[in-house]
Amino acid sequence: MKYTFTSVFLALASSSLSAYVPGTVVSELNKRDLASDVAKFGYTYCAANLPDVSQYAPVANSDLIFVQAFMRHGDRAPVFINDADIPLWNLCDKTVYNNVARPIYVTDLSNSTLNFNYVTANTSTCLPGELTQKGAEYSMSLGKKARSIYVDTLKFLDSDYKSQSQLRVRSTYIDRTQETARYFLSGLYPITPANKNVSTTIFHYQAAAETLLTNTALCPKLATVQGQIIATPQFQTYLAADPNVTQKLNTMFDVYSPNVTFFTTSRVYQSDLLQTRVCQNLPLPCNKLGQCATASDVTLELNNIQFEVKYTRRDSQYSPQFQRFASGPLFAQVLQELNSAIASQKKCNRVRMSIYSGHDDTMSNIMAGLHADDFGMLWPSYDDNTLLELWKNKSTGKYSVRILNNGQILKVLGANQGDSTPWCDFNGCDFDTFTNYMNSIIPANLAAECTV
Ligand SMILES: *[C@@H]1O[C@H](CO)[C@@H](O)[C@H](O)[C@H]1NC(C)=O
Ligand SMILES: *[C@@H]1O[C@H](CO)[C@@H](O)[C@H](O)[C@H]1NC(C)=O
Ligand SMILES: *[C@@H]1O[C@H](CO)[C@@H](O)[C@H](O)[C@H]1NC(C)=O
Ligand SMILES: *[C@@H]1O[C@H](CO)[C@@H](O)[C@H](O)[C@H]1NC(C)=O
Ligand SMILES: *[C@@H]1O[C@H](CO)[C@@H](O)[C@H](O)[C@H]1NC(C)=O
Ligand SMILES: *[C@@H]1O[C@H](CO)[C@@H](O)[C@H](O)[C@H]1NC(C)=O
Repeated sequence: MKYTFTSVFLALASSSLSAYVPGTVVSELNKRDLASDVAKFGYTYCAANLPDVSQYAPVANSDLIFVQAFMRHGDRAPVFINDADIPLWNLCDKTVYNNVARPIYVTDLSNSTLNFNYVTANTSTCLPGELTQKGAEYSMSLGKKARSIYVDTLKFLDSDYKSQSQLRVRSTYIDRTQETARYFLSGLYPITPANKNVSTTIFHYQAAAETLLTNTALCPKLATVQGQIIATPQFQTYLAADPNVTQKLNTMFDVYSPNVTFFTTSRVYQSDLLQTRVCQNLPLPCNKLGQCATASDVTLELNNIQFEVKYTRRDSQYSPQFQRFASGPLFAQVLQELNSAIASQKKCNRVRMSIYSGHDDTMSNIMAGLHADDFGMLWPSYDDNTLLELWKNKSTGKYSVRILNNGQILKVLGANQGDSTPWCDFNGCDFDTFTNYMNSIIPANLAAECTV
């Protein structure tokens, strides 16, 4: 198995969620009724809601042309594992799935030496950030849900897997997203004696060109924008709240030092430390002074990251720029793929579904770029999933986009900050409206806009 070490911020999970606002920060933008959506649909960091065929109906009098399936990887080990905790994280033995996991070939578009046939590690000890058994299992469940909709019900995809001709599969260069794509595929097309040798290629970009991550290498200006957001009084007030809890949690990390910026400019790693354990029913950690994390710390840090993701990517005065530079490059590829699907719809054996296996960062960029409401902007759970469907009206020939976010129709706010009238209805958003909106986010000249 290949493992790529990375410092990008990645994931989280959980149990409780309130309308809590951290510290003295006033949420000036409480978009729609978050509490009622959470009560109705549920939210837990540990496992996303999955699309459910019993609640799924095709768009009337329309043909499905193309599907883009975006997902966050499944349950994983923490980003940082203390030496003393290595024995605790013995949850990654995926050789138990060798008979049900599809063969995968991973290829790097940059032609570097990273092309390989996937081989599952034979150790149960998790590397930092590695997909766990639980994550593999749930990613397979997501694939099965997709099968029941697009294979069994709509018959949009072939029921047999003779080749991957109908599928395009993309991950990031980070191992857990490749594995998640593999298990998703294993649910979408379960192994049979006849298809067990059919290998699927998963491609990824090299790190410097990766649009599935907030990528300062792709856009140096993003680092400036991130710094501006952190420097706002709202964000500084947020960071200053609850200093004792922060100090207690920080000193639980082997890698902690007061000068390491990701501990002082975000609460993502503090929450990751706790949520990874909550999701595996492991005891909460203690620091070297014997001070232990509590259930209320778990709730505090989960609420903190709920604030962080919304404020950073959607609600701050710098968020529109963040969206241009972080969501824009991915949106350009998404829109281009939809247009080529329209252009090639008459071809037989065309690609029908494009799978994007990414991170919480990927999903948050998609949601923020679309100006999702508060429910859509919740921190992406493990296996968070967004299905973007392109439909064609049989009477008019017009195209529309429907988006299911964790099984529910995505709700969005206005095209401009402060405007709460939805810019589109994602039961069926007219494709021209969708295109114009996407083009308003996509930088026409990324290099020029991103110059520092
Ligand atoms: C990758 O290698 C192939 C074959 O050698 C070549 O045609 C292609 O241009 C290369 N792509 C890149 C991005 O270097
Ligand atoms: C585990 O994998 C390593 C490296 O692929 C190999 O050298 C070793 O023999 C394997 N161990 C077992 C028990 O299969
Ligand atoms: C799959 O590959 C194995 C090993 O190469 C081979 O023995 C087997 O016959 C193949 N099965 C099918 C169904 O092609
Ligand atoms: C935080 O810790 C300081 C120093 O130990 C203590 O004086 C203070 O009361 C604590 N604050 C809270 C809110 O617990
Ligand atoms: C951070 O502080 C440690 C000592 O606490 C020092 O060894 C290290 O070089 C510092 N790192 C940076 C990036 O300043
Ligand atoms: C398809 O177009 C017809 C005619 O304009 C319209 O009445 C119908 O609502 C459209 N269907 C959908 C699902 O948009």
